[in-house]
Amino acid sequence: MAQTEVMPVAQEPLIGRPGDPCVMVIFGAAGDLTRRKLFPALYNLARQNLLSREFAVVGLARNPMSTDEFRQKVAQDMKEFATGDVDPSLSDWFVRHTHYLTGDFGDPQVYSQLKALLQQVDNDHCTHGNYFYYLATAPDFFGSIVEQLAAAGLMEENKEQWRRVIIEKPFGRDLESARALNQQLLRVAREQQIYRIDHYLGKETVQNILAFRFANGIFEPIWNRRYIDNIQISVAETVGVEKRGGYYDRSGALRDMVPNHIMQLISLTAMEPPISFQADAVRDEQAKILHAIQPLSSEDVLSRTVRGQYGEGVVDGHRVPAYRAEQDVPPDSRTETYVAMKLQIDNWRWADVPFYLRTGKSMPVRNTHIVIQFRRAPFVLFRGTQVGDLTPNQLVLHIQPEEGISLHFAAKVPGPVMHLGGVNMNFEYADYFGKLPSTGYERLLHDCMIGDATLFQRADMVEAGWSVVSPVLDVWKALPPRNFPNYAAGTWGPREADDLLARDGRHWRNFEK
Ligand code: BG6
Repeated sequence: MAQTEVMPVAQEPLIGRPGDPCVMVIFGAAGDLTRRKLFPALYNLARQNLLSREFAVVGLARNPMSTDEFRQKVAQDMKEFATGDVDPSLSDWFVRHTHYLTGDFGDPQVYSQLKALLQQVDNDHCTHGNYFYYLATAPDFFGSIVEQLAAAGLMEENKEQWRRVIIEKPFGRDLESARALNQQLLRVAREQQIYRIDHYLGKETVQNILAFRFANGIFEPIWNRRYIDNIQISVAETVGVEKRGGYYDRSGALRDMVPNHIMQLISLTAMEPPISFQADAVRDEQAKILHAIQPLSSEDVLSRTVRGQYGEGVVDGHRVPAYRAEQDVPPDSRTETYVAMKLQIDNWRWADVPFYLRTGKSMPVRNTHIVIQFRRAPFVLFRGTQVGDLTPNQLVLHIQPEEGISLHFAAKVPGPVMHLGGVNMNFEYADYFGKLPSTGYERLLHDCMIGDATLFQRADMVEAGWSVVSPVLDVWKALPPRNFPNYAAGTWGPREADDLLARDGRHWRNFEK
């Protein structure tokens, strides 16, 4: 076996163990995800001593390129997309550990070439025969790539070597297709080999929901229907569909964001404490929540969901076109770019506590947050003051771009009369921990390299997410919208979304800049 090259000493102290020796095979290596996220994330891991010295990458894509050309591209991309300073010796080390294979994912021959290349790379870099495949491809290829890998013997594991596959979203486009894909994968691989990625779970602030709830004793006792009035989850984006009109118009906001990212936020916020931090213990509790979401009847879809599409408007001081005028979007498109819903979770903790959620493109600010709104004090002691006008206590988990937690409560305004005002207590990550350069993919890649699937979706969870949105997809398909576009870009979505809460005597908490 060849000797492993010595990796230049990384600068950051070691926290956690490095990933196992392994080869990462990236299907779709010439694409944006690889250069913008995957390579910078691998580099950050190397820098934090979390990447094994016995590590290599094989990039695979249709674009004809030699390994040398690929390496030049990786070196160039690394400079452009690194999230912090690039240490030239570490970057050179990384680049020398990359290889490239030109090929069509549908061509069986490619898999025998890949097998031969992997043997050579494995030998050169002492990676112990451990491989993981990252499918950064169009979703149509997911099932067939895994089938072909299995047919070539590239999914076979033994006591000494593991084989895993990371699958990007979208995982299906409805319940039926997600089920079919799960079945296709599980015919040739074990569930433990499949890592269904949701990049929201790579976000520090999303992972912190678990730490906040379960590493502190003071929140759990009040984290239930007795004290909580409602929960609001908002994922607002200022961007439109950018250059993804072709994909987005077939997807829409509901499919694009709800069964995956928003379901993660709901399940982490609402789950019971797991009995351990083992992958299945955590995922069992998340899955229970998804199964406990009350199925929407057709009438519920009409009364508890809102869809919208943006017309032209002004975002961040710039005029932006209507969705229907975006590249690759038909001028009469009926695809929604905004969705709001009211869901109920049928269990003892959450019965009758509405979960309001919304997500949209071309909103006035980019802001993802979860508002936990508490019930009002049981007795209005401060009658005659403006207490009735005060917003109730709210705990806000700021996911992005602000990263932190704030608590909103009432305080006495200084002065001779009793007068109350709303104040905030704020915690910001950056103030305490500084900012670690991150793409959001580091933790997920590292977890895959150490075999920890906690932050990845199990087959049942993906299907449960789709079950929640399925009735909505059906009703919306049967009743195409007639009022699109129904919100101007740069506003908080259609009026009906405000009405959804107003009917319950509530309103959205919006965060302006
Ligand atoms: C992706 C969606 O999964 O998530 C995009 O396809 C969306 O439409 C993106 O913009 C949002 O991710 P983030 O990390 O920017 O909140």
